[in-house]
This record gives sequence, C-alpha cells and structure tokens, in this order.
Amino acid sequence: MSTFRRLRNRLLGSPRFQRFAATFPLTRPIARRQSRVLFDLCAGFVYTQVLYACVKLELLTLLELRGPLTLSDLAVELDLPQDRLAVLLRAAVALQLLDRCGADGFDLGARGAMLLGNPGATAMIRHHALFYQDLADPLALLSGGGTDLASYWGYAGSDDPGGLDATAVGAYSELMATSQTLIADLILSAYPCHRHRRLLDLGGGLGAFVAAVAERCPKLALEMLDLPPVAEAARISLKARGLGDRIDVHGGDAFRDPLPTGADLVTLVRIVHDHDDAAVLALLTRIRAALPASGALLIAEPMAETRGAEAMGDAYFGFYLLAMGSGRPRSRARLEQLLREAGFRRIREQRTANPLLVRVLVART
Ligand SMILES: C[S@@+](CC[C@H](N)C(=O)[O-])C[C@H]1O[C@@H](n2cnc3c(N)ncnc32)[C@H](O)[C@@H]1O
Repeated sequence: MSTFRRLRNRLLGSPRFQRFAATFPLTRPIARRQSRVLFDLCAGFVYTQVLYACVKLELLTLLELRGPLTLSDLAVELDLPQDRLAVLLRAAVALQLLDRCGADGFDLGARGAMLLGNPGATAMIRHHALFYQDLADPLALLSGGGTDLASYWGYAGSDDPGGLDATAVGAYSELMATSQTLIADLILSAYPCHRHRRLLDLGGGLGAFVAAVAERCPKLALEMLDLPPVAEAARISLKARGLGDRIDVHGGDAFRDPLPTGADLVTLVRIVHDHDDAAVLALLTRIRAALPASGALLIAEPMAETRGAEAMGDAYFGFYLLAMGSGRPRSRARLEQLLREAGFRRIREQRTANPLLVRVLVART
C-alpha cells in the first residue's frame, strides 16, 4: 500500500479523528455525507427489497390508478395486516416511491411515477428476484456455485446455444424486448444510422431494436439474426407489427454459422458484455470479415468506468454477469482494444443522452 494511502486510511479509521470530524464545523458536513454513504452501503439490500415488494404487490400501479388511498383501504386491497403494511408504506415514503397524503393517505411519489413510466425498469425489478437468490450467499457465488441466473440465460456458458428450444429463450427474450424501447431511442439519437444502406442487428432478440430503426430510417434496408427459436418469435412479433416484409430475420448462431453479408452497418446491442474475451474477439473478427471496405460496427451497451456510474458497471454488472456465468462489464478502453485486435480502425464514441443506460462505440473497417 502506498504511504499516502496508509496514512489516509489510518486517519479516517481512527475513532478520535472521526469524533473530531463529526464536530468540527468545516469537516462536519463531509463527515455526515460520508456516514450517510456508508449507511446506504449497509442498507442497500433492504432498499431493494422495499422496492421489490412495492413492484410485486403492484402497489405503485394501484396508487396511480386509484390513489390516494388510506392504510386500511390498502390493507384490504393488498390482503396484508395493517400494522405490517404500514412498515412497507413508511419505508416507501422514505425512499420517495410514495407520498404521504394527509394523516392517513398514501399516493404515488416522484420516484414511483418515474419507475412506472419505464416498464423495462419494473420488469427488471421483478426479474431481480432470481439475482437476489444467487446473491444470498455471495461467497458461494464467488466460489463458483450454480446459479438461477445461469439457467435463466440459457445461452450463457452453453456449448450449443443454437440447439436451445423456445422454452429456454422465452423469458429472457420478453424481458429484453420490454427494456429495449428506451435503449433504442438513446442509440438512434446518438448515431445517424440512416447514412448507411443496410443494417444487420446481431443478437436482435424479438426485433424491438430493428423495429425502432425501421420507424426512424424508412430507407434503410434491415435484417437481424438471433438463435433459431428467438428468430422464430421475432418473425411473429415483427409480422404482428406490420414489419414482416420490411425486415429479414435469420435464425442461427452468430459465433459459429456464416454471417449474412451485404450489410454496411452491423449492430451489437447489449451483446458484447454477455461473452468472455475470447468469444468476443472471435465474433468481432468474423464481423470485420463480413463487412465491406466502408463498413461500420456499432456496439451499444452500458460500460464499466462510466463517470458517475462506476458502481453500476463494476459492482452491479460485475456481479450480475458473474451470476449469469459468462461475460463481463468492459470499459470503453477495453472494447477499443478488442476492436483493434479484430482489425477495426477509427473507433469513436457517439455520446448518448444517458450513458448510465447505454454508451455507443462505432468502429470502421
Ligand atoms: C442480452 S440479449 C440482447 C437482445 C437485444 N439485442 C436487446 O438489446 O434487447 C442477448 C441476445 O443475444 C442472443 N444470442 C446469444 N447467443 C447467441 C448466439 N450464439 N447467436 C445469436 N444470438 C445469440 C440471445 O438470444 C439474445 O436475444
């Protein structure tokens, strides 16, 4: 440990210094802020469970439709004992998910309203129940025990993802489609896809991203590829949206089967972080070979070391992908390194309006 760090840590860890910092007028605000941060670190799991309970009970939706409601009304609606429900309601008020309304009323709060405006976020919160189970014993997870998330994401760590059936891909495909709308908007506002002739979306899920591109770029030819049962579901979903003739859908394994050629823009949306380095490098190299001389590859996903969201990258995604059994969050620098190794040049970041949710790198051949 460096001398500076050792001295700093000795000082910050000393009860005498902590007592001084908490009372001295110039350090008091900092000491209070730091103790709040430490407390949140200890209590984070409780906050997520309060949020999960609200979403699972559909409490936010109930209050949006019929709020304000009293504690006794809510106890009847939610079939919970009043005294216990009161604990949840007070916690949700403290987390600004709900607002208090008069002496005994509760209504939707500011953060509750923001969540309801984003169905992808509420779907993720429900889905997190699996992740919490895997995290119940973090040491077992770190030692390499089996996880619920690995079974959920059937392709992660599979030797034959192309052989998965419809039941193995159904749940995650729905979850991804629900959370795609906001992501697509951010990507398409950051990068002018309409300058290309033909776009191929690899790992395109149920086609939510290509459908959003179709709306924004009416002249761009579009195709997507995903595992066979996902591609089949995408065909049905796109046909139902009136896009059956507009978008070519291929079923296949992007890591093994020949990639469709002819596109001058290939997109990987929330794909790269799911896979380990060797697989990513092989995929990027295959994409590079399938692109024409003036082609481009667009990678869009949340990235590690995003300023202001460091914990989201390395703590949240780090553990999520560990539980999933493959992949890792990567920084922009690491992605650039892999892109260069695969033969790409001129790599640029296209800034999105919400880098916490998604960042975009475009690499040219
Ligand atoms: C995290 S999801 C992202 C889906 C979509 N791009 C989005 O952002 O909503 C990863 C997608 O990659 C697909 N996938 C995984 N392994 C694949 C493979 N070997 N070949 C083709 N697609 C694959 C999955 O079926 C899934 O649809």
